[in-house]
Amino acid sequence: MRRTMILFAGIAVLALLLVPATSGAGSGVLAQTGGQTVREQQGREIYLQSCAACHGLDPNGPAVDSTVPSLKDVGGAAAVDWAVRTGRMPWRSTKGPVIQRGKSHFTEAEIRALDAYVGHAVGDSLIPQVDAAKGGLTRGQQLYAQACAACHGMNGAGSALGGANIAPTMLGVSPLDVAEAIKVGPGQMPPGGGLANYSPTGSDSVQRVNDIAAYVEALNKDRFNRGGAPIGGKGPVPEGFVAWVIGLGLLVLAARWLGTRQ
Ligand code: HEC
Ligand code: HEC
Repeated sequence: MRRTMILFAGIAVLALLLVPATSGAGSGVLAQTGGQTVREQQGREIYLQSCAACHGLDPNGPAVDSTVPSLKDVGGAAAVDWAVRTGRMPWRSTKGPVIQRGKSHFTEAEIRALDAYVGHAVGDSLIPQVDAAKGGLTRGQQLYAQACAACHGMNGAGSALGGANIAPTMLGVSPLDVAEAIKVGPGQMPPGGGLANYSPTGSDSVQRVNDIAAYVEALNKDRFNRGGAPIGGKGPVPEGFVAWVIGLGLLVLAARWLGTRQ
């Protein structure tokens, strides 16, 4: 078993060394002939080391405690990718909620291996597509206002949802975070993020996710603008809208402050 692993690791290293020398077509063949299995094996090792203590030896089986979800039910590879990339997992306790975003504990390659392993095990390997550059800001703003603003705030400041639950801020959130959160519906967020007739691979849904990602990107850029610059730099924004966003933001902040003061 160990020798096989070492052999596989050796092949993987050789493959990596060969990639720059071979054409794109060549690396495609390598990926087909063995990359997948090696990656899943690596993912399994990481899973056993960093996740199994809470989520159980088999991602498909029960977790070790009723306060820990089985990874069978949380949204497949996309959920793992989101939770690990945003530093939420591995957690330090068997109790949630896990709301703090932080630095990831793993390299990108390790995360892809974990995604592949858990995704395959639970039968949902889909990491949703997203390209904010293909999104329309105006449509994104409308969709966000309808589906997301009630929880995350029109300006993306986030809000307290009652109990220990928090709809987190959109500041620092990437387009992939948006797409994955919409697919997964983590915690109190509904799967599909409240978008009507959402399906992760439907072209209409993918377009709406791109639109929303474009709006969230604009919010992030706008954070660095000082004094009346148009949101996202894409044409004039009605002043009333800006006032409304700022007013609403202050209200949300006030609500949070009142809600957490004890
Ligand atoms: C010390 C215990 C512990 C460890 C280790 C741990 N988790 Fe978790 N995990 C939890 C708990 C508790 C929750 C429920 C969090 C909540 O309710 O907010 C959770 C939730 C999750 C979720 C669902 C997130 C959501 O909000 O939908 C995913 C996905 C996940 N864990 C993946 C992982 C992966 C992958 C690893 C290993 C890299 C890991 N966890 C390691 C305790 C742990
Ligand atoms: C009912 C309230 C609710 C609605 C509606 C909602 N969300 Fe969420 N959202 C949440 C909560 C709660 C979390 C945190 C879950 C957790 O930590 O387990 C979250 C998490 C997220 C995250 C992850 C942020 C991070 O720090 O990684 C993103 C991105 C996100 N939501 C975007 C959206 C978008 C876009 C929409 C609309 C299409 C939406 N949400 C609709 C409640 C909501």
